[in-house]
Amino acid sequence: MADRTVARRRHRPAHCLARDSEWRPPLLVRFSAGEAGAWLVDSIAPIVGESLPPASHVAVLEGPAVAVPHAPHAWALSGVVSSLKYATRADVTAMNAKGQPATCSRAEDTLAALIPIRKSEAWWALTQDERMGVMRAGAHFELGTEYLPAVARRLHHCRELGAAQPFDFLTFFTYAPAEAGRFDEMLRRLRATPEWAYVEREVDVRLHLAV
Ligand code: HEM
Repeated sequence: MADRTVARRRHRPAHCLARDSEWRPPLLVRFSAGEAGAWLVDSIAPIVGESLPPASHVAVLEGPAVAVPHAPHAWALSGVVSSLKYATRADVTAMNAKGQPATCSRAEDTLAALIPIRKSEAWWALTQDERMGVMRAGAHFELGTEYLPAVARRLHHCRELGAAQPFDFLTFFTYAPAEAGRFDEMLRRLRATPEWAYVEREVDVRLHLAV
């Protein structure tokens, strides 16, 4: 048993530890899917719109590594961990009070979900206060906070990288197998909120850590 724990620690990816509420300056991250990487793919399911091609592994490459061409890949998605744009001090205080673990920071978090999302032109035509109003109407932050600290989350922004990006956001979560049911429950609740009416492409990629 001890040996298994050591083996798992040794193979834990030394990436995705920065929280979006803490990281300064912006961090460039690339999720590269192919035949190599610390995460093994369990499923790739289109929720809305076009899916992503099949792959067996996903590697998470951070910082300067993203400039280095990775081994042949099925697809690669890039995003930037940036500063908070909508969460208020009260939201952050509430999230911190529950505990906000960094993704990949706990040995028991052997499962992950990479959920790339693109929102519609109608969403981006709104002003920031209007977009925040839509998120508030569905209580996105309060709903999500209910699942802290069981779920570790990190948000990556893609629009800043240019018009060619296929998604606006890469959302990434890590959690323990015992929390998989609650994670799915959270997704069902979030997808039923008014915000999701603006989601025109969403793919649910489930992963487990290679040990
Ligand atoms: C642990 C549960 C969750 C919490 C605590 C949470 C919290 C938050 C917070 C605070 C923000 C705003 C960040 C900012 O101020 O810029 C945010 C944004 C966002 N979250 Fe969540 N969230 C959770 C789960 C999810 C899930 C499961 C998804 C996707 C399936 C998701 C998708 C997004 C997206 C796409 C944004 C960016 C929205 C935009 O800027 O238009 N979140 N989340």
